[in-house]
Amino acid sequence: MQFGATETLRRVRALGLPRTVVQGFVEHGRKLGRTLGFPTANIRVPPGCQASRGVYATVSELADGRRVAGVASLGLNPTVPILEPRLEVWLFDFDEDLYGQFVRTELVAYLRPERAFESLDALKAQVVKDAELSRLIHRAPDPPSCLEPAQRTRRL
Ligand SMILES: Cc1cc2nc3c(=O)[nH]c(=O)nc-3n(C[C@H](O)[C@H](O)[C@H](O)COP(=O)(O)O)c2cc1C
Repeated sequence: MQFGATETLRRVRALGLPRTVVQGFVEHGRKLGRTLGFPTANIRVPPGCQASRGVYATVSELADGRRVAGVASLGLNPTVPILEPRLEVWLFDFDEDLYGQFVRTELVAYLRPERAFESLDALKAQVVKDAELSRLIHRAPDPPSCLEPAQRTRRL
């Protein structure tokens, strides 16, 4: 099942904080995502992780404190399977080498379960849609607040 943007936004708001966090050192993957047009930072998921396998809108905090919006898959990549669960994050508008860096990623909204695609082209087309939905979620205005304008900060 996959939710539309409106339903996803409703769920994001209803869910609120805190967010599930996956963190670790960025490892080398198969570099397939790069050739498909979506380079990902790969992080091993600890065995006890209770988060559902699937695709998420994310915010990643880098070692230097920068926070970068993105979209990620958590699981075993059934189209081109891997043996150990991984979080693979595509950071938006970001083109720096993260290998070996400690990255902390918050799972902001669950978008859909992972699935096996019939081709890499079909996988790529779906990932582009996932990214659009995640960008939409990140662009959504904050709900009305009762703070003075000077106190308002946009929380990524
Ligand atoms: C947003 C996003 C969604 C993804 N969804 C799926 C999926 O539904 N099924 C799947 O098999 N792999 C999925 N993947 C994982 C890709 O298969 C994987 O990133 C790609 O094979 C590159 O792997 P690599 O980093 O080892 O090169 C997704 C990846 C991203 C970033």
